Amino acid sequence: MKASEKESANPLSSLDVWEDDVLKRYPEPGSPVKSKEEFRDYENTEKDSVREFYRLNHKYQTYENVLAKKANFLKFDKKEMPWWSAMEYLNTLIDDSDPDTSLDQLQHLLQTAEAIRADGHPDWFILTGFIHDLGKVLCLFGEPQWNVVGDSFPVGCKFSDKIVYPEFFADNPDSTDERYNTKYGVYSHQCGLDNIHMSWGHDEYLYHITKDYLPEPALYMIRYHSFYSQHREHAYDHLLSAHDQEMFKWVDKFNPYDLYSKSPKPPVVSELKPFYEDLLAKYLPATVKL
Ligand SMILES: [Fe+2]
Ligand SMILES: [Fe+2]
Repeated sequence: MKASEKESANPLSSLDVWEDDVLKRYPEPGSPVKSKEEFRDYENTEKDSVREFYRLNHKYQTYENVLAKKANFLKFDKKEMPWWSAMEYLNTLIDDSDPDTSLDQLQHLLQTAEAIRADGHPDWFILTGFIHDLGKVLCLFGEPQWNVVGDSFPVGCKFSDKIVYPEFFADNPDSTDERYNTKYGVYSHQCGLDNIHMSWGHDEYLYHITKDYLPEPALYMIRYHSFYSQHREHAYDHLLSAHDQEMFKWVDKFNPYDLYSKSPKPPVVSELKPFYEDLLAKYLPATVKL
């Protein structure tokens, strides 16, 4: 792939730029308005890169794309390694956008988990915080950013106008496909999220990696942590079952730790490693198949 093609497939200077944008959309309740100095200086170029990222995401996240990505990645035939090594492998995703203030992937995960731990939550909740973004290794397998991060949403039915940049769905072929462009599309009233295909990305991927090992609330947190149009705007209540609604209380509980536990003070990985290795060993097999 030529450099220019690579740039156009990956408009964000780092995956964190998407998360910074989510944070601007959903600032911490009760927090003072952040000054430019406190948060990454959001230059116009970065705003444009987020727009371009969503243009690609909304154009290409089709029903067909999701089925194709599941057929490929749910074979788990790419790599196998011990869990901690996989976390370090994720950390080879280099953030080149703002080396002074931004945290690497492992630091974000440790901060999320440590904030959950500090609040006295159960150990499986802490573990969930620690691994929740491991699915971003998709980038290391050559997937474009729009197939790894971004707000997630159901495919196979009408795209909600509560999803960020809804106008970009006009370029998605599913928007004019009558199988997929009605309120329910291929689904039925409150059929339950487990019967629904979500847009492809790091959330869905990690759910399938962990689904046999973690308690159900943990799996909801992992699978739907980027489904902002539902947990913030309730855009898909007509598809959720009563059980989904109950379980989304856990997604809501998790979300602030993901978004608001970022501080520029990096955790000391070597000090925390033994605790997290024990936690991984308690719930998960010795190795992870990616
Ligand atoms: Fe995430
Ligand atoms: Fe995260």
